[in-house]
Amino acid sequence: MVTMNPAPEPSSGAATQSAASTTSPEPSGAAPYGSHTATAKTSASRMTAPAFSAAKASGRKLAMITAYDFPTARLVDDAGIDAILVGDSLAMTVQGHDSTLPATLEHLIYHAEIVGRAATRALAIVDLPFPIGHFGPDRTLEAAARIVQQTRCQAVKIEGGVELASVIRRLATAGIPVMGHVGLLPQSVHATGGYRVQRDRERILADAKAVQDAGAFAIVLECVPTPIAAEVTAALAIPTIGIGAGPECDGQVLVLHDLLGLTSGHVPRFVKQYLDLRSLIGDAVRRYVADVRDGHFPDASQSFAK
Ligand code: KIV
Repeated sequence: MVTMNPAPEPSSGAATQSAASTTSPEPSGAAPYGSHTATAKTSASRMTAPAFSAAKASGRKLAMITAYDFPTARLVDDAGIDAILVGDSLAMTVQGHDSTLPATLEHLIYHAEIVGRAATRALAIVDLPFPIGHFGPDRTLEAAARIVQQTRCQAVKIEGGVELASVIRRLATAGIPVMGHVGLLPQSVHATGGYRVQRDRERILADAKAVQDAGAFAIVLECVPTPIAAEVTAALAIPTIGIGAGPECDGQVLVLHDLLGLTSGHVPRFVKQYLDLRSLIGDAVRRYVADVRDGHFPDASQSFAK
């Protein structure tokens, strides 16, 4: 937008941003595409990692969702979400890959910077992409530090259990809040041979406890049967955030594109679709195409008489 030439024609998106532009359809120099109010200041009541963690003791369930861009991050923030995750799921939902593995640190930082500017009240958490945690505490700290320094996001998430305890401890000691992630680990899909429900109770419990003891403020439990998730939730002092882990967790997380019905392929059993956005967008664009072809768009109200 900053590179546009001096006197762009206002678009309908820009026109909705101010009363002046809706009453005067003349070229105004306004931004030519849908724009947003300037980066909002962090709210005094912004969710923090300690407050997120403390919600468990009060019994308040936590709602977390992914977002990767400004408009959706601002929408979910305004809608009262507790935490926004800039997940490496962006490799699948945004980039069109068939796994999360292609997401890089640069991709995550790019999207985290955008989401960090949009979030005013939710806790903003960023995934550490494959395979950073496995490079050891020093390199992981370098990556996590880039995230908190270059974005307005406040925490990182890392996949893995016992084997990553020293890494999590290093980040937590440096003052970077860490969310753990155990059970199904999408970054290990080639080793596990697919996305399967994880039923090794002892391993899941040991991983979750190791993550907590290393200093994590919360933990994602992915694709774990309800009884095991309930046992882990009861055993931990930090909140468990489930995805495919049943209702006994302290909170839930879903991928925004799944919840909105924006993804095209297989929809996992644990997803609840609240909207069929693919159909809505498809219908809207088909109507636009028809209007253009039939000469119904633009009409006089969308045109400049002089
Ligand atoms: O990358 C992601 O979106 C995630 C959530 C599904 C927990 O890790």
